[in-house]
Amino acid sequence: MNSSIAFILIGVSVLFILGIKFLSSPKTARAGNLVAAVGMLIGLLVLCKSDGTNIWAHGWSFNYTLIVIATLIGLAIGAFGAYSVKMTAMPQMVALFNGLGGGAAALVASLEFLKDAQPVNQLIGVELPHAPAMAVTIPMLFATLIGSLSFSGSIIAYLKLEGKVEKPMTFPGQNILNGLILLVIIGLCGWLTFNATGHQAVVAFVVMFTLALFFGVAMVMPIGGADMPVVISLLNSFTGLAVAADGFAINNNAMIVAGTLVGSSGTLLTLLMCKAMNRPVTNVLFGAFGSSGGASAATGAVVGTVKHMQADEAAVLLAYAQRVVIVPGYGMAVAQAQHSVRELSDELGKRGIEVQFAIHPVAGRMPGHMNVLLAEANVPYDQLIEMEVINPSMERVDVCLVIGANDVVNPAAREEKTSPIYGMPIIDADHCKTVIVMKRSMAAGFAGIENHLFYKDNTRMLFGDAKASLNALVAAVKAN
Ligand code: TAP
Repeated sequence: MNSSIAFILIGVSVLFILGIKFLSSPKTARAGNLVAAVGMLIGLLVLCKSDGTNIWAHGWSFNYTLIVIATLIGLAIGAFGAYSVKMTAMPQMVALFNGLGGGAAALVASLEFLKDAQPVNQLIGVELPHAPAMAVTIPMLFATLIGSLSFSGSIIAYLKLEGKVEKPMTFPGQNILNGLILLVIIGLCGWLTFNATGHQAVVAFVVMFTLALFFGVAMVMPIGGADMPVVISLLNSFTGLAVAADGFAINNNAMIVAGTLVGSSGTLLTLLMCKAMNRPVTNVLFGAFGSSGGASAATGAVVGTVKHMQADEAAVLLAYAQRVVIVPGYGMAVAQAQHSVRELSDELGKRGIEVQFAIHPVAGRMPGHMNVLLAEANVPYDQLIEMEVINPSMERVDVCLVIGANDVVNPAAREEKTSPIYGMPIIDADHCKTVIVMKRSMAAGFAGIENHLFYKDNTRMLFGDAKASLNALVAAVKAN
């Protein structure tokens, strides 16, 4: 690779690092996206092939025409997807794009591995004339294995989030069977590391690729829908590692840096989400959590009765409060009620009432879901308070308004040892003087369990679509 191209690729890597850095704050997140996208564009323009040839030094070729056509198709699909996707369907889109990234990384590695096998349209039965150096074979095999399982696993995660594959698929001995398949895959990779030539190498490689695809499906099928965002984050880190391994195999520094960044940030995010739910990663991967689904999975005896209230009664309580805390959840995203929430918060603020938003790390369906929605509605960022910061002062809150949140305020996580969410940190809404829960019915949240908060003495239920209820509430507060 000529030195000016290497220099540009280091610049591209710096842009990727800056992009990630800027993404860590809502104020700079847009700029972060833009900076990383510019890096990607420059990386594409450099168009460097594994043998070191590039369009600037060696002129245009048919390959570059194909790359440009593929890039334009990718840009069109990406832009259409990003503009048209609903905020609530964002995890599905991330799963799909991540799966395609993993698949692409696996294909790059496979084609690099098999490029000398002629003719490529009759793979089985052809010979690999000479083995690549082991330093290249190992990353190629790693990228093929990890990229292909990330591809098939992400497709299953997408189907689960879309509700196309409803229940986790479990059977006795499943983990042992999956473990055996993994052992065969690792065995084949080990053998190929030392025997990457001849007819058997091609056959072993194709078998390994197919088993890795199957393993991705087998790994995600038993996992419950509630855990899909964690699984997607984990598969995202796999895709990153596959891209980094591709970078080693085809000698591309920008791919090594970009892949490592995605790999490490995906791993950190996975661990943070598991910590926020107080569950080890192994429990997410092998626990089949959320398999029961629906309110039938209620745990513990429910004590108390459900007490309804209307918007005008809630408005009176709010108007006479000194401190109000709003707990947003997935239902606020479904109702697209963030602008109405902002209006209510402004209206209360005008009356000298202190309003804060309590943010649970896994509220909604993706990391930062609530932050993104509230930022979109221009809620000042200093009004958003993280769970562990706000919890100690919840007893001094006059009214807690729970908007479309359920699992993240369920006291069963603190009180019911048998509950599937026992140990998950929650926002202590029940500690407030009065709690108003806004949702459409008594239906369960994502974990599929009964919420004891709804039956507490200090809780009132305001039933209805969150946006409609909030609009009624704003009108009633204004009239007070
Ligand atoms: P959930 O527990 O899923 O509850 C959402 C509630 O919103 C439902 O009970 C639903 O009740 C209500 N709702 C739906 N549409 C509504 C509408 N139009 N208007 C008003 N209410 C509506 O939400 P949460 O409290 O945010 O908890 C998130 C869950 O996802 C947790 O279990 C968490 O562990 C899981 N999870 C999240 C993540 C990330 S990264 N965020 C990752 C993994 C798992 P009705 O149908 O009665 O209205």
